[in-house]
Amino acid sequence: MKDQKKQVFNILNILVIMGSPHKGTTYRACEELRHCIEQEIPVEFEYLWLMDVNLLSCKGCGLCFTRGEKSCPNLDESHLIEQKMQQADAIIFASPVYALNVTGQMKVFIDRFSYNFHRPQFFDKKAFILTTTAILGHKDVLKYLEMVAGLWGFDIAGKMGLVTPDPLPDYRKDENQKVIKKSAKKFISAFRQERRKSPSLKDVIIFHGQRGSFRQLKDISPFDYHYWKDNGWFEDGINYFIDIPVNPLYHAIGMIVEWFSARQVQKDLRENLG
Ligand SMILES: Cc1cc2nc3c(=O)[nH]c(=O)nc-3n(C[C@H](O)[C@H](O)[C@H](O)COP(=O)(O)O)c2cc1C
Repeated sequence: MKDQKKQVFNILNILVIMGSPHKGTTYRACEELRHCIEQEIPVEFEYLWLMDVNLLSCKGCGLCFTRGEKSCPNLDESHLIEQKMQQADAIIFASPVYALNVTGQMKVFIDRFSYNFHRPQFFDKKAFILTTTAILGHKDVLKYLEMVAGLWGFDIAGKMGLVTPDPLPDYRKDENQKVIKKSAKKFISAFRQERRKSPSLKDVIIFHGQRGSFRQLKDISPFDYHYWKDNGWFEDGINYFIDIPVNPLYHAIGMIVEWFSARQVQKDLRENLG
């Protein structure tokens, strides 16, 4: 049904993972962004209010890493959230700044989906990062959420940090309007690009660093190991998670990082056994 709709109307399904606990400034910023996007391309926005879903805090057992996310002892709605994420074309990670960071709801969500740091899966999806703040903290939150989404495999299609003190002076309102319009344009143009952009040096280093480690972890973290193996990421000639041109210099640096990473893990494992 989703594919039919996309073929006929080319509607993009956008899931907003909403970290704000109420319909406040962050929600309004998302709605304004939606309004700007809708003027150019057909989109459907769905809000997933983390405040209202049954998502328990991580218990810290680490079983999602070693034995798979289905081994999580928390019985809640995390699998439904994952399903929604898999069905969306793009995800907006939205959180106000609370105490210089993302909200508690957003942090619980990230903790619970941490296995995606080891087993990234969202390579066919775009992510947009959105935050609002009274004064400060927005840059850190944007950086943090961008890093999280990138490591989970998303193609970052833009980010937007609005400074929204209460009361909001007129000049700020105008400035924010400009930022929203610009961000919407960037988001839309990311969808018009046919190919995903090549990975940065940091992306390549992360790929090889993880590859060097996970290759050594067959016994300690079998689920991670097999995920990497089944995806063919250990095979010779594989330069990145997806088939995309990689800058040869980045690749060479990545291979060195992989060698050191593997050596470090081997050393740690030997020390633990001995
Ligand atoms: C508990 C709490 C903590 C906050 N911490 C910060 C902060 O560290 N820095 C800041 O500039 N604003 C802070 N704010 C202000 C919010 O970031 C700002 O008002 C935001 O736009 C609220 O979005 P919301 O209406 O979606 O909750 C805080 C607000 C609350 C309620």
